Amino acid sequence: MKIDLNKAQNSSVQLSKYLQGQFSEHLGRGIYGGLWVGKDSNIPNVNGLRSDVIEALKKIHVPVLRWPGGCFADEYHWRDGIGDPAGRRKIVNNNWGGTTEDNSFGTHEFFELCRQLNTEAYINVNVGSGSVREMADWIEYMTGSGDSTMANLRATNGHPEPWEVKFLGIGNETWGGGGNMRPEYYADVYRQFQTFVRQYGKHPLYKIACGPNVDDYNWTDVLMERAAPYMDGLSLHHYALTDVWENKGDAVNFSEDEWNSLLYSAKRMDWLINEHTKRMDRYDPQHRVDLIVDEWGSWLSEQAGTNPAFLYQQNTIRDAMVAATTLNIFNKHAERIHMANIAQMVNVLQAMILTKGSQMVLTPTYFVFQMYQFHQDAKRLSAFCSQGADLNYTISEKDGEYILSFCNTSLTTDESVEVTMPETIGAVTYSQILHSDKANAHNTFDEPDQVKMQEFNQVHAERKTIRLRLPKMSVITLKYKK
Ligand code: AHR
Repeated sequence: MKIDLNKAQNSSVQLSKYLQGQFSEHLGRGIYGGLWVGKDSNIPNVNGLRSDVIEALKKIHVPVLRWPGGCFADEYHWRDGIGDPAGRRKIVNNNWGGTTEDNSFGTHEFFELCRQLNTEAYINVNVGSGSVREMADWIEYMTGSGDSTMANLRATNGHPEPWEVKFLGIGNETWGGGGNMRPEYYADVYRQFQTFVRQYGKHPLYKIACGPNVDDYNWTDVLMERAAPYMDGLSLHHYALTDVWENKGDAVNFSEDEWNSLLYSAKRMDWLINEHTKRMDRYDPQHRVDLIVDEWGSWLSEQAGTNPAFLYQQNTIRDAMVAATTLNIFNKHAERIHMANIAQMVNVLQAMILTKGSQMVLTPTYFVFQMYQFHQDAKRLSAFCSQGADLNYTISEKDGEYILSFCNTSLTTDESVEVTMPETIGAVTYSQILHSDKANAHNTFDEPDQVKMQEFNQVHAERKTIRLRLPKMSVITLKYKK
């Protein structure tokens, strides 16, 4: 493939750092065990959060974290999760296996997590079984700074200073588990709830309406027609599947066809974004409302022997292809997509990190985020992905450097690439590859280093031209001084 940046089709735009956001729900071991072990745990922790996982996540610079769900958000009552942990209400986590949720991880613990990760907060409030007042009180509890009952309660519970909430999601999958609503009805509910999202902090909250399920274009039409002026973002959920929901396919033992079908499904994101943004444009030609993909990733069969409701799956080099390809798609559509949140950060679905007791392993997906972090808030020079091509990429510039990331999703064929840069490039400052010859290569607790980043040398740069050969099943990031 030849890429000439002097003829690049994408206009230059900033690649929002929030495109590399994460999502963590009270689901399986996503929070409990994976992030939160409690202050009395034998697992080394700071204020109850396990240090090994936090240290690893800090290296990928998580820009934003969505919490507490997902489906869980619509059964979450925030008052259950404040005050003395010993006195907190125990509830049944009905969505995810009927386990006991003791609410030991609540609002204060979430903001402590954000503090340790240096990440911004995306709170998804309960519309399905909550009320306007419950939401309004929570916002006041989190962000209020005056002399009010909610702000004073927060201070009594140990945090006099208000927190910053950047993003607020109003409902989750309200077309399904979040209330089985029709779009006409939810549009009105959304308008009502958002009216009472008051601003106490320095900035108004960025309000996100629940958007469509995959290709439900009617939902987008109705929401945009009836509620666009009241929202900053409209969400979209799309998971990559090997087949249908009933036949998700094994995360590790898969066929060549399943490799291809998972990648096909992931690349459908490009099509879905095109189609939904076309509808959004009809009602919002100024592009004021962003599309927010706040759940994405591969959803495969749960690992045998684990609780099926915990959605615990292994993660192979195939998932790394899904991650890099999807990030390239978001970068391609960066004019309209402001945030995306992979599902989910630890131990659930396409996770960055898997844990077992005190052990931790980094997944191939983690390394993709490590390589892509350089694009956060960079200026896009070009980004490409197409259903018909094995190669997809992002090229950007930031802080006096060019950043080039490529992904070759082919199972069988290496790909030669020649890039013509806008001007003569300087010294290489970073050159890493994530690759394996085995399609199902993955890291386990016994063999944690089967898939990892390595120095990449098969690249030749001269004046304005960079030539490289991308092995099949690989992700590469290069950085050059300008
Ligand atoms: O990420 C797992 C679940 O998938 C979320 O709780 C829900 O929003 C979606 O259906």
